[in-house]
Amino acid sequence: MSTVLGIDIGGSGVKGAPVDLSAGDFAADRHRIETPAHSTPANVAEVVARVVDHFADQLAPDSPIGITVPAPVRHGRIPMMANLHEDWEGLEAESFFSDRLGRAVTIVNDADAAGLAEVQFGAARGTEGVVILTTLGTGIGTAIINDGVLLPNTELGHIEVDGHDAETRAAMSVKENEDLSWKAWAVRLQRYYETMQMLFWPDLFVVGGGVSKKHEKFLPLLELETPIVPAELKNKAGIIGAAWLAAERAS
Ligand code: BGC
Repeated sequence: MSTVLGIDIGGSGVKGAPVDLSAGDFAADRHRIETPAHSTPANVAEVVARVVDHFADQLAPDSPIGITVPAPVRHGRIPMMANLHEDWEGLEAESFFSDRLGRAVTIVNDADAAGLAEVQFGAARGTEGVVILTTLGTGIGTAIINDGVLLPNTELGHIEVDGHDAETRAAMSVKENEDLSWKAWAVRLQRYYETMQMLFWPDLFVVGGGVSKKHEKFLPLLELETPIVPAELKNKAGIIGAAWLAAERAS
């Protein structure tokens, strides 16, 4: 099974691409559709189905699909949701999407998927010890991986820093909404990463999310003992990680 579809459900867009798992890269250009403003599971599933249809002739009939969500996922169920409609809370998401799409579906937290992809194919490949991947987007997602093994569902974008839920001060969306300069945003990132460092002492931080393309604007402003590097797979990581995990589960 070398080509598997990965889909990333985000606060602003639903994006999918077939992933060539031997190369750890997209096998075709990604397809993106806006996330419905009324982002209930049923409305989002319609959009996901359109993404699947777009690639249908490139997929084996029995190939599984990996889908990321911006929420923790415990054995296929979503216990809480910060950035999509509240109807997601308590959803048995794996069976819901499998029924809707007629395929085996693996649902995984978006940052966990990105972390797995960076460890398998990207910036953290071959790193010994503890890697913390953070995604800076609508919220802040985190993945902790120790010697290749994921500790799933860490919600460390929500740790309290200076009396605030960290992602409400330091996510990329906050930079945009408050029109912060790179320097002003970096002050908030500094507080976030130094708190994470003090609590976890990882061997490496990997910074993902779309903004990691512009890492030279903010990573050099951070002063940390822990090495901090941009994600190599950039905003492809979630899709690649979801496809990789779906294939692992199916094998
Ligand atoms: C969610 C996480 C998610 C992150 C990035 C947070 O608000 O609670 O589950 O990984 O946003 O999307």
